[in-house]
Amino acid sequence: MEIGTDAFKAASIIQNGGLVAFPTETVYGLGANALNSLACARIFEEKQRPTFDPLIIHIYQIEQLYKIFESPIPDTVFELALNFWPGPLTIVYKKMRAIPDIVTAGLQTVAVRMPSNSTARTLLEISNVPIAAPSANKFGSLSPTKPEHVLKQNFNIDYLLLGENPTKGIESTILLIEENECFLLRPGAVAVEEINKIRNVRMDLLNQKNNSPSILAPGRLKYHYSPKKATFLYKEEVSIPSNSALIAHKKKLFDNRFKKILYTSENENLIEIAANLFDKMHILEDDNEVENIFIEPVKPEGLGLAIMDRISKACAKYSS
Ligand code: TXA
Ligand code: MG
Repeated sequence: MEIGTDAFKAASIIQNGGLVAFPTETVYGLGANALNSLACARIFEEKQRPTFDPLIIHIYQIEQLYKIFESPIPDTVFELALNFWPGPLTIVYKKMRAIPDIVTAGLQTVAVRMPSNSTARTLLEISNVPIAAPSANKFGSLSPTKPEHVLKQNFNIDYLLLGENPTKGIESTILLIEENECFLLRPGAVAVEEINKIRNVRMDLLNQKNNSPSILAPGRLKYHYSPKKATFLYKEEVSIPSNSALIAHKKKLFDNRFKKILYTSENENLIEIAANLFDKMHILEDDNEVENIFIEPVKPEGLGLAIMDRISKACAKYSS
């Protein structure tokens, strides 16, 4: 795989059906021309991702929506776009027939977002095609927020585009629009409280089991975003085995039972915690001296809802 900052080269690879990993403001994406089924099929192969898990399409200008969402597009979609795009909000709505089934996993809806990251925008603009891109990691493992996190996946892809790094550190918030109602499918980098100022967000699909294909959002699978090591939620009263490390969110938290403590923030700043969480998990996943990872929980409010979602999923295999 070639690595570089040449957006023209990356764009021509996309246009010719190749795969390019690139930064967005949330995490790195693994992109292909969304209108090319074969190229999109390669994404699933490289990620070892089940084909029931649909992809998000990335665009750089609002006019592109008319070739992706079925008309008439509800006002709610434009209102959300006006307020949160470019940025880490993904909107799911009915798809046009031209959108390949492989992208949507056969669903009648499609997920779209307009990233704000300057490198992603340049790539989208030069390619001049919508780009389907899941996070650039193997299925179920930690999301990549730095180039080295992408490199450690050992993907067989054509290009890793470097440029502006992700700043948010966790994935986009996903909303399903149905008859002008908004349902939260995945908490993410835009806090629900912010969206509630524009439109009321219904939370009733969030914790529902994946039993209805129309609301399938496999980011909600129980074991997602997990380090390849025993990972637990930190509670003061639990016993800590030797060779354990802690990810904490405030400098005043110190516990001498740990071999190492990594801090995402000095004072529980949610923006910093989100930006650093996956990186700290990657560091401990790769650290041969560490056998167990413990993570301090956060209050599930504001950005904390998405942070706690990622922490719970990382710990899901080892919690009852
Ligand atoms: O921030 C992000 O969203 C990053 C960057 C690269 O844009 N992308 C990302 O993609 O997180 P991925 O594939 O890791 O997660 C996308 C989620 C999946 O859980 C998928 O199931 C859901 O979006 N999704 C996609 N299309 C959907 C649809 N039509 N209905 C419901 N959920 C959908
Ligand atoms: Mg992902």
